[in-house]
Amino acid sequence: MRIVRRTDEAPGVHTIEINSRGDGRSGQFFMVSVPGVGEAPISVASGFGRNTLFTIRNVGSVTSHMNKIDTMGVRGPYGTKWPWKEYEEILAVTGGIGIPPVRSLIEEINDSGKGRKLEVLYGAKTPEDIIYKTEIERWMKKVNVHLTVDSGDENWTGRVGLVTSIMKDAEVSKSAGVFIVGPPLMMKNVVKEALNLGYREENIFLSLERRMECGIGVCGHCNVGEFYSCEDGPIFNYHKVKHQKELFL
Ligand SMILES: Cc1cc2nc3c(=O)[nH]c(=O)nc-3n(C[C@H](O)[C@H](O)[C@H](O)COP(=O)(O)OP(=O)(O)OC[C@H]3O[C@@H](n4cnc5c(N)ncnc54)[C@H](O)[C@@H]3O)c2cc1C
Ligand code: FES
Repeated sequence: MRIVRRTDEAPGVHTIEINSRGDGRSGQFFMVSVPGVGEAPISVASGFGRNTLFTIRNVGSVTSHMNKIDTMGVRGPYGTKWPWKEYEEILAVTGGIGIPPVRSLIEEINDSGKGRKLEVLYGAKTPEDIIYKTEIERWMKKVNVHLTVDSGDENWTGRVGLVTSIMKDAEVSKSAGVFIVGPPLMMKNVVKEALNLGYREENIFLSLERRMECGIGVCGHCNVGEFYSCEDGPIFNYHKVKHQKELFL
């Protein structure tokens, strides 16, 4: 696929747009490849009915080549989706590079015209690390988006603190679907706080990212206990996986 646009989002993070109207849904991922280097699973940041977008943090061999290429390999979409259609109200809690599957969730719900109450809580390390700054301003017209940073700077007038610290202010009911994606420690603490606040564990969904090779349930690299993250996930119901000892490792 040809890369038609590239946007710098934050230090070490950029968004790539490819010239393909995707059929990927929010929560799903594609295996993207740099010819001669390798493949990596990357979430659908924008998909169904729009050009496909991927937002990528440069961490290693494949991702560090992504800002140097004009064409890339793409296979998918794979994996499970956020089950937003099952909920009238949704609380999406995300941190760091976890935001791409929440971006596609927001777009999918808005594009569908199905009135859902969606509230988004997003935590970044610093104001500089906030991804999708322009889009967030646009989303705020339709969706309740709350930002917080671990540490602010002289221009930051918003919240400072972990994303868990703003969960109690969410205005959705306790029967809302709670969708969580971010670093493992953040997800662990968000689940704990969601349960403390009275959300029901069967309504909590996690995006569990694991190292992947095949992406299609063949190689066995991505297991979460008895499940494969690539086929049974990445979106898992917390109730279903909570006893897996690998869950938050
Ligand atoms: C379903 C899914 C969706 C993802 N979506 C995105 C996304 O939208 N944007 C994005 O930037 N990244 C995303 N990732 C993570 C991304 O796949 C990895 O960062 C990428 O595979 C790293 O490949 P690399 O060759 O650049 O790094 P490598 O050279 O393979 O590794 C660099 C470092 O990252 C660690 N690492 C690699 N992959 C993982 C992983 N899955 N979990 C924990 N540590 C890892 C390695 O141990 C090593 O320390 C997603 C992962 C999954 C499973
Ligand atoms: S990546 Fe091969 S089984 Fe999941």
